[in-house]
Amino acid sequence: MYFNAKSVSLLLALCVGGITSAFLSILPEVSTMGAIVGLIISFSSTFLLTYFVLEFIFFKEIGNIHRQIHELRQKQTKSSSKEVKQKNPIVDIKSQINHYAKMKEDEIAQLKKMEQYRKEFLANISHELKTPIFATQGFILTLLDGAVNDKNVRDRFLKKAAKSLNALNILVEDLLTVSKIEAGEINMEFEEFDVQIMLVDVLEQIEQKAEKKNITVTFEAPNDDPIYINADYNRLKQVVLNLVVNGIKYNKKNGWVKVILEVKEDIVTINVKDNGQGIPEEDQNRIFERFYRVEKSRTKKQGGSGLGLAICKHILERHDTSISVVSTKEEGSTFSFDLKLLNDTENEDTEL
Ligand SMILES: Nc1ncnc2c1ncn2[C@@H]1O[C@H](COP(=O)(O)OP(=O)(O)OP(=O)(O)O)[C@@H](O)[C@H]1O
Ligand SMILES: [Mg+2]
Repeated sequence: MYFNAKSVSLLLALCVGGITSAFLSILPEVSTMGAIVGLIISFSSTFLLTYFVLEFIFFKEIGNIHRQIHELRQKQTKSSSKEVKQKNPIVDIKSQINHYAKMKEDEIAQLKKMEQYRKEFLANISHELKTPIFATQGFILTLLDGAVNDKNVRDRFLKKAAKSLNALNILVEDLLTVSKIEAGEINMEFEEFDVQIMLVDVLEQIEQKAEKKNITVTFEAPNDDPIYINADYNRLKQVVLNLVVNGIKYNKKNGWVKVILEVKEDIVTINVKDNGQGIPEEDQNRIFERFYRVEKSRTKKQGGSGLGLAICKHILERHDTSISVVSTKEEGSTFSFDLKLLNDTENEDTEL
């Protein structure tokens, strides 16, 4: 039922008028006319009095509160509608307050999550930076303590210090890439090219790394025809490179990594498949987070700061696509993503 000043006053006036006239009609000395006059006077005075009190004190204030809450909600939801909903204000205020409280609760939860994320991020960065810095510091201090005089030790330690500094440089570059992509500061430079040429480029770059671990890296395509796409050549190369390097790094000796291209209608799917150690199911949807690693206490040999897949994910998002993984522990993993092919007419335009 919709309560407003008029309806409440009417209801009250009817009750008071009814009771007054009923009371007057049972008094023998009061005539019917007198009872009717009593009814009219009590009805109208009760109505007017109640109406003024309710309208000017109670409902006016409630109306103001209602309007303010409505405006506040409109600001929060950035809605442009100016009209206040024509509902019972008391009922509407309750639902608006509930809605507003829920919205604030969600905001607080989101802020808490961000704060936790920020803390973890800072802790991870400091930890990752400390490792190569301490290692370099250790080598240099040992040299300064006298080891510098022994040519063999000096060369070995300087090489190790240089390696640690190199790792530090890669880490800082990766960190910069992630934060720039996340802040939207890196623009993709889209160009048209043949995916197969890019893959040959990737394979040439990792040849040595693969040979060192005796891992065979191969590349399979449906045929020799070029597969044209429109993408950022260097960034996409970085994605495939990260995936192939992971395939090598998390593999056993004499393992294999295959880059398989599949073309279906206007989509090319790039799969990077390995027969390495695989990823436990519970970790599979977390490995794309910054700094996430399956084995937390990693041997120096496997290295890695856990940024590679986060970078891949962001680069692919900027190409309007996403990366997925299928993996079985001890059997291997396949990372895949789709890209849109350039259609024939676009190819002809490029060739002209
Ligand atoms: N092909 C794979 N096989 C098994 N585990 C993998 C594979 N690729 C990634 N992982 C797991 O996912 C984690 C995250 O991978 P990611 O590439 O982001 O980081 P990283 O290799 O540890 O370091 P970075 O790439 O920054 O040098 C790895 O630490 C590893 O545990
Ligand atoms: Mg990696």
